[in-house]
Amino acid sequence: MTITTIMLAALLSNVLLLPAATSETTEGTRSVSWYAGWHSTDFPLSQVGWSKYTQLTYAFATTTPDVKTVSLDDSDAALLPQFVQSAHKNNVSASLSIGGWGGSQYFSTNVGSATNRTAFVNTVIGLATKYDLDGLDFDWEYPNRQGIGCNTINNNDTANFLAFLQELRQNSVGSKLILSAATSLLPWNDTSGAPSKDVSGFSKVLDFIAIMNYDVYNILSPHAGPNSPLNDSCAPQNDQIGSATSSVRAWTDAGMPANQILLGVAAYGHSYVVPESTAFQSSSTTNITNVYPSFNKSVEHLGDKWDTSGGVDVCGNFSGPSGVYSYWGLADAGYINQDGTPKTGVGYLFDNCSQTPFVYDKSNQTWVSYDNVQSFALKVKYVSGACACISPFTSMKGEFIKSNGLGGFSMWETAGDLNDTLLDSIRKSI
Ligand SMILES: *[C@@H]1O[C@H](CO)[C@@H](O)[C@H](O)[C@H]1NC(C)=O
Ligand SMILES: *[C@@H]1O[C@H](CO)[C@@H](O)[C@H](O)[C@H]1NC(C)=O
Ligand SMILES: *[C@@H]1O[C@H](CO)[C@@H](O)[C@H](O)[C@H]1NC(C)=O
Ligand SMILES: *[C@@H]1O[C@H](CO)[C@@H](O)[C@H](O)[C@H]1NC(C)=O
Ligand SMILES: *[C@@H]1O[C@H](CO)[C@@H](O)[C@H](O)[C@H]1NC(C)=O
Ligand SMILES: *[C@@H]1O[C@H](CO)[C@@H](O)[C@H](O)[C@H]1NC(C)=O
Ligand SMILES: *[C@@H]1O[C@H](CO)[C@@H](O)[C@H](O)[C@H]1NC(C)=O
Ligand SMILES: *[C@@H]1O[C@H](CO)[C@@H](O)[C@H](O)[C@H]1NC(C)=O
Ligand SMILES: *[C@@H]1O[C@H](CO)[C@@H](O)[C@H](O)[C@H]1NC(C)=O
Ligand SMILES: *[C@@H]1O[C@H](CO)[C@@H](O)[C@H](O)[C@H]1NC(C)=O
Ligand SMILES: *[C@@H]1O[C@H](CO)[C@@H](O)[C@H](O)[C@H]1NC(C)=O
Repeated sequence: MTITTIMLAALLSNVLLLPAATSETTEGTRSVSWYAGWHSTDFPLSQVGWSKYTQLTYAFATTTPDVKTVSLDDSDAALLPQFVQSAHKNNVSASLSIGGWGGSQYFSTNVGSATNRTAFVNTVIGLATKYDLDGLDFDWEYPNRQGIGCNTINNNDTANFLAFLQELRQNSVGSKLILSAATSLLPWNDTSGAPSKDVSGFSKVLDFIAIMNYDVYNILSPHAGPNSPLNDSCAPQNDQIGSATSSVRAWTDAGMPANQILLGVAAYGHSYVVPESTAFQSSSTTNITNVYPSFNKSVEHLGDKWDTSGGVDVCGNFSGPSGVYSYWGLADAGYINQDGTPKTGVGYLFDNCSQTPFVYDKSNQTWVSYDNVQSFALKVKYVSGACACISPFTSMKGEFIKSNGLGGFSMWETAGDLNDTLLDSIRKSI
């Protein structure tokens, strides 16, 4: 069964009929997005729908071997002051994200000793002061778990990270900042290398975390699958590798209050080369039936114009194209209409487990897992606790969470949307 537009309309009207009790959560809901400095030419600050956000976070400052320095070389350093100014003019909080996939190399050493933590606190405070920031976002990928391949790493990373954040909070400037972290699906690894069982300490020093519930399947995965699944407990056993529901459960079980969790949502999709025989059921030439198809890894496969044929990363390793399509890129390439529905002749499926759409173009065997207006509306229903199908937070250590909702959403990335249609879908649904 797929969710039809009629059902969607019904779901949306349910949201609108919610009792007033949700207004409390609605007021406190954070609408956040990361603004990637390197895409500012295609999507200038003047195009940002500022009034639709409570916070924008500039990406990325990167860690360096010198604890006294973080670098803005990978983004547009000259744009950061204008970013902050535009945000403030619009009454939106301006934050700066430190780290990212390619920028997390030296977190471990920067927080690796008491001396370094104090120095690193001073470094980031200096940055916040210099740029008049309202917040700092830490996107360490990942504490005590290797990310890109050459990050410094230490068993005590998570504990050291907490000690660093505690010291940052004690600072007179740091005490007033909005401190946040972008996280993996599971709580950060503890000293033993297993996901932490108690992250309550982080909840006292961070304003919120944003769970990066995307890239769950990507070009490095053994086979294709949903980029940003809402659910996976209904997936085949081997594909229950993470989703919004499982990750929120994991973090709340470890003591992170639901209202301090933002769901990371994706204004993009991952594409793969999938043979027609694998993409469609034999009886159909229009409906995608396989949500987890194998794909042809020997084909160099480019996504939209932001994708590149590849390059050498900070570790010195070459990696090819990502196959990523921004949401607008999918419309540009002719896969979807402006409302996110498939173009005529393009194969389609709305998967009822991941609750995300897929398109398939048989002319060039391109199979894409992405998010659209419909899947965003469903995710936000989940975020706001209005999802009739679940009560994900009631079992947390036997405690009933009043709002039954998350703290909001954070979208990667601001410039990926198509004329704000995903963002508007979220706002309509909250
Ligand atoms: C999805 O649809 C299939 C086929 O109709 C059904 O067997 C399955 O139970 C549904 N799964 C969920 C999670 O609704
Ligand atoms: C920002 O807030 C101030 C004070 O509340 C208000 O006067 C102004 O109109 C707001 N500006 C925008 C763009 O919302
Ligand atoms: C402290 O930082 C310096 C570089 O600034 C680094 O060389 C050293 O290894 C760090 N110490 C620890 C214990 O990580
Ligand atoms: C850390 O966590 C990840 C999943 O969150 C896990 O796959 C990994 O094995 C853990 N341990 C280390 C040392 O990376
Ligand atoms: C990248 O290079 C480093 C050495 O600089 C190596 O240890 C790591 O495994 C490589 N990563 C990948 C994904 O190949
Ligand atoms: C982790 O911290 C403990 C106690 O603070 C210390 O004994 C141990 O050497 C540290 N481990 C590493 C790998 O630095
Ligand atoms: C996830 O799937 C499980 C098992 O099918 C179901 O019980 C639960 O309601 C689903 N949650 C959401 C948010 O769809
Ligand atoms: C494709 O799916 C739609 C519902 O989403 C259904 O009405 C239609 O019959 C299906 N077509 C084929 C060829 O299976
Ligand atoms: C993968 O693509 C290559 C290059 O187009 C082709 O030669 C090969 O047959 C394909 N493999 C499969 C399994 O389709
Ligand atoms: C596939 O074909 C569409 C046109 O139907 C085109 O826009 C798109 O760029 C093509 N994709 C690839 C990866 O070649
Ligand atoms: C963008 O959205 C607005 C409001 O929904 C609409 O009026 C406008 O025509 C759209 N622009 C484009 C280029 O689609």
